[in-house]
Amino acid sequence: MALIEFINQIAFSSLQSSELNLCVMSSSKPIDLVAYGATGFTGKLACGYLAQKDAAFQGSFRWAIAGRNQTKLDVIKQSLTSNFPQLKSVDVLVADSADVDALDRMASQCKAAINFAGPYSKFAKQLVEACVKNSTHYADLSAELFWIAEMMESLGEAAEKNRCKVVHCCGFDSVPSDWTA
Ligand SMILES: NC(=O)c1ccc[n+]([C@@H]2O[C@H](COP(=O)([O-])OP(=O)(O)OC[C@H]3O[C@@H](n4cnc5c(N)ncnc54)[C@H](OP(=O)(O)O)[C@@H]3O)[C@@H](O)[C@H]2O)c1
Repeated sequence: MALIEFINQIAFSSLQSSELNLCVMSSSKPIDLVAYGATGFTGKLACGYLAQKDAAFQGSFRWAIAGRNQTKLDVIKQSLTSNFPQLKSVDVLVADSADVDALDRMASQCKAAINFAGPYSKFAKQLVEACVKNSTHYADLSAELFWIAEMMESLGEAAEKNRCKVVHCCGFDSVPSDWTA
C-alpha cells in the first residue's frame, strides 16, 4: 500500500467503506492522524501534503505534527501556518523515539500514525509497539526487511488481536526490497 493511499483511507475517504476506514471511524480518539518525524526531509513533504488536504477538507479531520524536538516542530508549524492559516490549531506532539511513555501517550491519542523517523531499525520499534498496544494504525517508509520481519514476528499477533494495521514499505523506494524479499 502506498503511503498516500494509507493517508487517504484514514483521513479523507469517509465515503469509502474499507475495513481500515471502518476501524478508524469507530475509534473515539481525538486525533485522526499523527505525522511523526515531521522535521525530516520526507516528513516535511508529507506535512505539506496534509496541510493542502486539510485546507481542502475545511478542518473536518484533526491531525498533528510530531517528533523529538519541540523547537524544530514549532518552526514547521509556523511555516505551514504562513500558507495555511487554519493550521494554527494543528497539534504539536513531542516524543523521542526512545521515550516509551511519551510514545504511549501519543499513540493513545491518535487513530493512526505515519512515521518518517528513520532508519527504522534504529528508531521505530517502540513506536510500532505503542501503536499496537493502543490499537492505532501505523505506516512507514521502511525497506529494512530484517527489521520488518522482526516486527511481524513479535507484534503481528497482537496487532491482529487489537485490530490495527501495521503497514511497512509504503515508500516508492521500498518496492525493490519488498519484491526481492
Ligand atoms: N522507501 C522510500 O521510498 C523512502 C523515501 C524517503 C525516505 N525513506 C526513509 O524514511 C526515513 C526518513 O528519511 P528522510 O530523508 O526524511 O530523513 P531525515 O531528513 O534525516 O529525517 C529523519 C527524521 O527522523 C527524526 N529522528 C532522528 N532521530 C530521532 C529520534 N531519536 N527520535 C525521534 N525522531 C528522530 C529526525 O528528527 P530531528 O529533526 O529532530 O533530527 C527527522 O525528523 C529514512 O529511514 C529513509 O530511509 C524511504
